[in-house]
Amino acid sequence: MNFVRTFHRWVSAAFTLTFLANLVAMALSGGQQPPAWVTYSPLLPLLLLLGTGLPMLVQPLLKGSKEK
Ligand code: HEM
Repeated sequence: MNFVRTFHRWVSAAFTLTFLANLVAMALSGGQQPPAWVTYSPLLPLLLLLGTGLPMLVQPLLKGSKEK
């Protein structure tokens, strides 16, 4: 599970960068919509965060129920 946690940590940094890039792109585009690849760039890291975050969320709960 350590690998998943480390992966989640690094992907969260990548996600934050894509999010900030969106804010910058919106600020610089003068009311225009930024290019679609900028707008959608946070979605892949967000999906990876969901895929690694949910197992981290559920794993201690499953472990707890086995100990009882
Ligand atoms: C998309 C849904 C997400 C889920 C279900 C999720 C779930 C989790 C869970 C369960 C943990 C472990 C908490 C613990 O046991 O201490 C965690 C850690 C963490 N999450 Fe997420 N997370 C999600 C999205 C994000 C996002 C969007 C960010 C930041 C941009 C983020 C950043 C982090 C960081 C930095 C940690 C600590 C990792 C470490 O221990 O080094 N997560 N997350």
